[in-house]
Amino acid sequence: MCGIVGYVGGRQAYPILIKGLTRLEYRGYDSAGVALIGDSGKLVIYKTKGKVKDLEAVTADKDISGSIGIAHTRWATHGEPSDINSHPHYSENHNLALIHNGIIENYLSLKTELTRKGYHFQSQTDTEVVIQLIQYMMDSRSVSLEEAVPLALNLVVGAYALVIMDKDQPDKLIAARKGSPLIIGVGEDEYFVGSDASPIIEYTHKVVYLGEEQIAYIKRGEDLRITDLRNEEHTARISELEMSLSEIEKGGFPHFMLKEIFEQPRTLKASMQGRLHPELGEVKLSGVIDNRERLLGAKRIIICACGTSWHAGLIGKYMIEEFTRKPVEVEYASEFRYRRPVIFPTDVVIAISQSGETADTLAAVKLAREAGAFLFGICNVVGSSIARATDTGCYTHIGPEIGVASTKAFTAQVTTLFLLALSLAEQLGTVTDERRAQLVNELQRIPEKIEKILQHDGEIADIAKIFTYTRNFLYLGRGYNYPVALEGALKLKEISYIHAEGYPAAEMKHGPIALIDEEMPVVVIAPKRGNYEKILSNIQEVKARKGRIISVVTEGDTDVKALSDWSFEIPDSEECFEPILSIIPLQLLAYHIAIAKGRNVDQPRNLAKSVTVE
Ligand code: G6P
Repeated sequence: MCGIVGYVGGRQAYPILIKGLTRLEYRGYDSAGVALIGDSGKLVIYKTKGKVKDLEAVTADKDISGSIGIAHTRWATHGEPSDINSHPHYSENHNLALIHNGIIENYLSLKTELTRKGYHFQSQTDTEVVIQLIQYMMDSRSVSLEEAVPLALNLVVGAYALVIMDKDQPDKLIAARKGSPLIIGVGEDEYFVGSDASPIIEYTHKVVYLGEEQIAYIKRGEDLRITDLRNEEHTARISELEMSLSEIEKGGFPHFMLKEIFEQPRTLKASMQGRLHPELGEVKLSGVIDNRERLLGAKRIIICACGTSWHAGLIGKYMIEEFTRKPVEVEYASEFRYRRPVIFPTDVVIAISQSGETADTLAAVKLAREAGAFLFGICNVVGSSIARATDTGCYTHIGPEIGVASTKAFTAQVTTLFLLALSLAEQLGTVTDERRAQLVNELQRIPEKIEKILQHDGEIADIAKIFTYTRNFLYLGRGYNYPVALEGALKLKEISYIHAEGYPAAEMKHGPIALIDEEMPVVVIAPKRGNYEKILSNIQEVKARKGRIISVVTEGDTDVKALSDWSFEIPDSEECFEPILSIIPLQLLAYHIAIAKGRNVDQPRNLAKSVTVE
């Protein structure tokens, strides 16, 4: 969840670290810090509660020289956001500095023990324990830093991606990971470290993805040396980064979120590319073709995910059940992993995760693996932990998603789930060729239909201003559009901090109807396919209680519109594709309400993009 950057080479480290932090700020942003070994030979740390620009203010009159450094943006877990709790942290003798992403679960017992041995702790963080423990290993066993790191990490329980600097080795960084991602960029006589590729991409496309429980010794002028916690040597495998710098810049948009909403016509095409074959009326997914027997033989499918990915999973359930007639269960990964779920070796578990790093989803995958289930991953980040921990899968291929509130990942996940459902149905013979061809042709038209909705951005922005001071929202939908109600409500609460709830429209009578009065806007997703008459009755029920209706309707609708105070139109489509269209005006509505309220939409308070702690 925190952002990590490191540099060692021939250039000045500070500008590279600050630029890297800015690119990573979407991961965590309550504090920022940097450690450098300056020209004076001193190991200095500057850190502060706040954003990267606050850190720049702190360093304005400081010595920021040096060609080695580490830097961090924090998303607090242990200890409130404060200057002291910010990373980097020093070891007892101030010779070592460390930055960390993850959680050290046994930090309290280690801290107690180290305190007893005379080590002094400055912060309330779990992180500080690691660097103190490393120094303790050096002090008590008279070993080098290189030997002390695995010794200490073997005593640590939890998850970490970390980077260490040593005052006495101004040309070397040591990095390690367990459960949290870490990437090393390999340049000409220089190395970069990042918790993802965004701080590295500007300088080199050559990267090494550090493996689970591996430690990298990164010394300028030498090849990378990689070992693991058992001190076994590993070869550093260099991969080529596929992303480009423009993908992580705003490209003329005021916010990443808006850019990503507007990217959706293109990103959906990318998710379909090479997989959708309208000329044949077919879908081809190599992950399905190569694992035909195992997938087709599944007695049951379980989808595990968190947040927006879980909402996409709900739509996936509707699609897979409709087209393949196989039973599908959708689970919050965090619940699934801890409630001793019944998993059969004949089950297929689909893990959906934009980042591919969400700790609960990864743990659910590991649990399903132990039970012998077959694992299918739907991830966006290539080479991510979940992508690697699954047997096969399908990348969404939408480029980096930077806005904390997920938008383009959602529509891509739904599209990918459709491709999976249809390709299974094709093999199972549960959908006729004619119907399949219709669906394939319609999916191909979805990007241009999204373009059409996006043209109404200005109107949506005008309507959004009406709700600047609204305190509660209710979102209702039925069938395929029920998960859209959940996702629409999530978008609004995430970035505007307005309380919003999503409900299946018919369930409104069992509780939320008590809340409806003239103050309460109710967003009703009511396109014309599936349950239209039923949702019309639900709208009448809201109207009868003076609720204000904002509806999402199919172009040409008259009945729902007549009852609505405001309406957003979407082009007609197959029922299963309605969610991909109906979510677009709701993404824009949430964005514009948040802007009208003056919120920081790309970095909403308390949230993080990639939740690598449980
Ligand atoms: C966080 C993000 C959400 C995301 C969820 C799951 O809460 O803020 O946008 O939907 O994690 O993330 P994943 O990467 O697994 O899809």
